[in-house]
Formats: sequence, C-alpha cells, structure tokens
Amino acid sequence: MADTEIHKGLAGVVADTTAVSKVNAETNSLLYRGYPVQELAQNCSAEQVALLLWNGELPSEDELTAFQELERSHRALTPELKRVIDELPTTCHPMDVCRTAASVIGAQHPLAEDNSPEAELRKAQELFAVMPAVVCYDQRRRHDQELVDPREDLDYAQNFLWMAFGEEAAPEVVDAFRVSIILYAEHSFNASTFTARVITSTLADLHSAVTGAIGALKGPLHGGANEAVMHTFEELGIRKDESAEEAEKRAKEWMDQALADKKKVMGFGHRVYKHGDSRVPTMQDALFRMLEHYDRPEILGLYNGLAKSMDEAKSIKPNLDYPAGPTYWLMGFDIPAFTPIFVAARIVGWTAHVMEQRANNSLIRPLSDYNGPDERHVA
Ligand code: COA
Repeated sequence: MADTEIHKGLAGVVADTTAVSKVNAETNSLLYRGYPVQELAQNCSAEQVALLLWNGELPSEDELTAFQELERSHRALTPELKRVIDELPTTCHPMDVCRTAASVIGAQHPLAEDNSPEAELRKAQELFAVMPAVVCYDQRRRHDQELVDPREDLDYAQNFLWMAFGEEAAPEVVDAFRVSIILYAEHSFNASTFTARVITSTLADLHSAVTGAIGALKGPLHGGANEAVMHTFEELGIRKDESAEEAEKRAKEWMDQALADKKKVMGFGHRVYKHGDSRVPTMQDALFRMLEHYDRPEILGLYNGLAKSMDEAKSIKPNLDYPAGPTYWLMGFDIPAFTPIFVAARIVGWTAHVMEQRANNSLIRPLSDYNGPDERHVA
C-alpha cells in the first residue's frame, strides 16, 4: 500500500452519517437535532435537551413530566455502588471513579445484555440520572464529607449542585451550571463519542460503550482540558487582591513565554473549529456572570490576558473547556471533578450515538499501512 493516503488522527475523514448534531466549522455553529445550541441553552432545561438528543424532538409537557419522574427516582447511589466507590483509593483520578461506576452499573443492570431500543433508552436515562451522585459523592469523600442524598423536589442542575455542596445554590449559579451541562451534552464524532460508536459497532452493550468513552474523555487533548485550564491559572498564580488589569498583564506575559517555549496551552484550539468554538460565547457569558456573582475580577484578567495573547500570537481561539474550567472552579468544584461533570453531561450524547449506531450498524474497522520489518523467519 505504498501510495496509500494516511489520514493521521482520522482528520478530515467522514466516518458515517448522524442526525444527532451538526458541527459546522465554517459558520461556527452547532445544532442539536436541528436546534442551535445557543437557543437551547437560553430556553431549555438539561432534561429537555437530553430528551431532544435521545428522541429527536423536544418533549411535550407529558413526556417531560414522565422523564422527570424517572430521572428523579433514579438519582441515588445503590448501596453496592457506594461500597465500590468507597473501595477506590482517593489517590485515583475521579475519572477512574466515573469509569468504574459506569462499568459496575452495567454489570448490575437487569437489562445489561438487552440491546433493544427500549432497553437502551431506559439504561441511558438511568445512567444520566445517577452519574451526578457518583461525581458529587466522590468529590465529598475526598474531603471526608458524608454523602448528600438527592432531592426529588429539585431539577437536574439544582440537585447536582445540592449533592456536591449540601446546600441549595443561588439561582444564577444553577443557571450557569445548567448552561454548561447543555453545552457539554453533545458534539458529533469527537474522540469519546467515536469510541462509544466503535464499541457499539461490535454489538457490545451500552455500558461498555460508555465506560470506554469515559476513558477517551479523560485525556487532556479531549475532556481533561477543562482541568488543565485551571492548572494554568494556578501556575500563573491566582492573587485575590490583584486588579483585572494587573492580572491580564501577567497572563499575557506568561502566554508569550509559553508560546516562545512552544508549549501547548490547554483550552485553546480545536480539531474541527479553526475560527472559534461555537459554544464559547454562551459559556463565556455564563462565566462572566459567575465572575460578577463571586466578585473575582482578577480571574477575568487572567482569562482575558491568556486569550488575547494567544489570539494575537497564533490566532488560535479558546474552546469550550476554557470558560468552563474557571466556571466550575468558582462554583467550588475541585479541579479533578471538572472532567467528571463533563462525563455526566455527555452521557446523553454518547448514548444517543450508541442508539443511532445500533439502529444502522456496521462494524467499525479501518485499515492500517504496515511499516514494520519485511517478512522474516525464526529459523
Ligand atoms: N496551544 C498552542 N499551540 C496550539 C494549540 C494550543 N492549545 N493548539 C494548536 N496549536 C498549534 C500547534 O502547535 C500547531 O502548530 P504548528 O503547526 O506550528 O506545529 C497548530 O496549532 C496545529 O495544531 P494541532 O495540534 O496539529 O491541531 P489538531 O487539530 O491536531 O489539534 C487539539 C486539536 C484540540 C488537539 C489542539 O488544538 C490541542 O491540543 N489543544 C489543547 C487541548 C485542548 O484544549 N483540548 C480540548 C479540545 S475541545
């Protein structure tokens, strides 16, 4: 295969069709089942968007009510799952806890091997319901705090923050969190979703697909970037008494040096979007609201300084992880919990793709161009 064209990283390869979402790099737009994500973030709950991504249409009131009942009644960790989490060392990354939890939930599920559309939707919805408890309990146990039981009178976003911190979050905070969950819910054939589709294509079950997807999301070139953004801020030094202007100046200097040292700065760049990530303006608005809410102008300075300097030097724009990282940090989440929050949100997109792959399956199995030694023999 000497003149085979290699698409390193599958860049530019169209692997299949999908009706779940459309990423348009030319117009910086992202549609979930035809709806601009910005409109969904402005007008919908996380639950409505989840139903849209799974079913293809926004839910009627009755459909939403039925789903809310199911979702609210499946939020609690089972005692078995709690025990498994307790067995994991607090030295492991919280993504390892999510990955293990997804696998354990699958192993215990009565419909584990049932790949019918009804069973898959049910498993997807239950996983969506329980993953926040995994994320929140894992964060709490690392601080020697007790599990906070879910509350059925709160919606998904409110309850997530309730279980994380044991107190009701301010409406502005809930709203910024809701926006982040919607923006993180789906993004076509990214690395973790493609992983889920590859696993599904072998006719393996939904929980196996999600477990693999969580592994793919962990890496800093993918989901792990939202954590890495905050590590950059920490490396720069967060000085609470600093003005936005001073912080911006320091951040610019840091970025100039980082680029001179040929560093890759996480939270910038994207495989598909080359002129800016469609989700950033909406997430950035949410971040700016949080910066005002928590009165942290110095974070705004760091945020603007890095982005301006990167834009001036290389015209590389921030991706969704750039505003999402500091937003979660301001809310009080531990940095290693950021990618697990992304997991909780992306359960929806992954499982919508699992169901789509299953409905029109073909084993995903690309070719490779061998470049090892010529044939040789032992004797
Ligand atoms: N910081 C510094 N330079 C960057 C960069 C970043 N975050 N992202 C891209 N570049 C530069 C590369 O160094 C390269 O420059 P060169 O041509 O001078 O070598 C050029 O831009 C192309 O980058 P490349 O990594 O080949 O593009 P890609 O399409 O393969 O990568 C990402 C896309 C997302 C993997 C890449 O932008 C990246 O690593 N970003 C940081 C991780 C991140 O935030 N991931 C979350 C994605 S949502």
